[in-house]
Amino acid sequence: MKYTYILLSQLIFLFILPNHLKVYAINSSPYSEIAKLLNVPESEVPELLVNQTILLEGNKILIPLLDESIYGGTYIDLIANKIFINTIDISKNESIINNPVMKPYLNLLSFVEVNNSLSKLNEIFNQVNTLVKNFNVVNVIISNQYKVNNIVIFLDQPELYQAFINSAKKLNPTPIIDGPNEDIKENSSSTLKSRENNSPILESHENNSPTLESREIHLRILSGYAIGASNEKSRFKCTAGFWVRQQGLAYLATSGHCALNATEPHGSIKFYFIVPGTDKTKFFGNMTRFELEPVDRGFILPYDEYSVSPFIFAHELQMFAITDFTRTLVNFAEGAVVCKSGAATGYSCGKVLSVKVNTVLFHVGYGRFDYEGLIEVSMRGSYGDGGAPVFSYNNPLDLSQTGVNLFGMIVGATRYQPKIVFTPLYQILDSDMDVVTIHELLSNFNF
Ligand SMILES: *[C@@H]1O[C@H](CO)[C@@H](O)[C@H](O)[C@H]1NC(C)=O
Ligand SMILES: *[C@@H]1O[C@H](CO)[C@@H](O)[C@H](O)[C@H]1NC(C)=O
Ligand SMILES: *[C@@H]1O[C@H](CO)[C@@H](O)[C@H](O)[C@H]1NC(C)=O
Ligand SMILES: *[C@@H]1O[C@H](CO)[C@@H](O)[C@H](O)[C@H]1NC(C)=O
Ligand SMILES: *[C@@H]1O[C@H](CO)[C@@H](O)[C@H](O)[C@H]1NC(C)=O
Ligand SMILES: *[C@@H]1O[C@H](CO)[C@@H](O)[C@H](O)[C@H]1NC(C)=O
Repeated sequence: MKYTYILLSQLIFLFILPNHLKVYAINSSPYSEIAKLLNVPESEVPELLVNQTILLEGNKILIPLLDESIYGGTYIDLIANKIFINTIDISKNESIINNPVMKPYLNLLSFVEVNNSLSKLNEIFNQVNTLVKNFNVVNVIISNQYKVNNIVIFLDQPELYQAFINSAKKLNPTPIIDGPNEDIKENSSSTLKSRENNSPILESHENNSPTLESREIHLRILSGYAIGASNEKSRFKCTAGFWVRQQGLAYLATSGHCALNATEPHGSIKFYFIVPGTDKTKFFGNMTRFELEPVDRGFILPYDEYSVSPFIFAHELQMFAITDFTRTLVNFAEGAVVCKSGAATGYSCGKVLSVKVNTVLFHVGYGRFDYEGLIEVSMRGSYGDGGAPVFSYNNPLDLSQTGVNLFGMIVGATRYQPKIVFTPLYQILDSDMDVVTIHELLSNFNF
């Protein structure tokens, strides 16, 4: 019930103050997570995020100028306020420095001499992917990491793949092999447990909240809510991704793998959402279309249009209005800070570790699934976060106007390490499909 009041008050703000999309922190700011991540005082976060926008713009202009045989990729660093450009020949830097389009960004550029060019890294990346297929390796993440100037292979169960590891080690440069770390295993699992026991802190606004039919609020499904297909035996928990609109119909997007094992005898896949703060589940629609490969995505058709919402729900904190979404890859850079809201592990933020990632996941009873072109982020995630929206802030200086830019949704997370991979929107959205944003809601009310 407590949630009801908070969400209601948000909606009322929306109706009364359309040009002031009020979203506020309850007990803590969404920036405290970022402050911890970057190890800076919270007061510096807004400016760092503004600077990140500039770094990303500069990086976007820079990328097409880089000759893959000389340059080794780029990454940004918010604290240093730099775009780092790896190069195997620093003396060739004039072509970048003297290019007029880079002029506004010159102070932000920093060249780093490395051994491996982008062509070399891509060649090793492809060879590792071939080995992964040949040795039938599963539950593996292969990432091209520019900052380390190498390919990193994360193996969930390295002990099963000694022959693969031996072959990978013969490549030159030798890729970095990473795996679960027992130390981290103990600590991170206990962290997750304690988070689960913490009930969200949303009491404070209860008394001064206006009342409205609770029915209204219960029917809206926000990004970040726990959803699942369920049969009587088991409940499969995922996260509501975001609403999309295609040919006039609205669908809730989430991971396609949420539909596994959930088909009912007459062929429908019924989806439920868990009313926040309760154990109650409510049916809200059938997943009418899903796939596991090449993109892990599924679309749920609600039985009632009223379910559609352009908001992201972030457990302990607040709601964020989706104001924009990014359909292209080039807006990402290694080192950028992004956040997510998952039904299992809540709201958290992390740094992009790689913008070029392939992974092979294994689903018991179904086999292996290959994914390409994912993005890897250093943030916690666990079972139940599949489908969670990944986003960044649009207007960092004014939290009362916080809108977010949506980038994609989580497809998998590593156990024991804070690492997730997400699918970028350009893979999820069909060409005639758009994300439902706050602008659609506002135009429906003729503001
Ligand atoms: C943000 O960028 C400006 C201009 O480059 C710089 O002066 C400022 O120190 C940066 N802020 C932070 C917090 O790094
Ligand atoms: C560009 O290369 C020249 C020659 O190697 C070097 O002196 C200069 O410091 C480089 N500039 C930057 C910004 O790294
Ligand atoms: C590049 O390779 C050389 C020789 O293998 C090595 O000594 C050097 O440390 C490498 N440089 C970097 C930046 O890794
Ligand atoms: C995990 O926790 C133990 C006990 O608190 C501590 O000694 C160890 O250093 C921690 N390991 C990591 C990787 O944080
Ligand atoms: C869901 O699918 C079942 C079985 O096909 C169908 O009877 C039901 O009407 C569908 N529900 C909605 C809301 O579309
Ligand atoms: C899903 O079904 C397959 C067989 O179709 C079975 O092997 C597997 O254990 C089931 N998975 C779950 C999570 O129940």
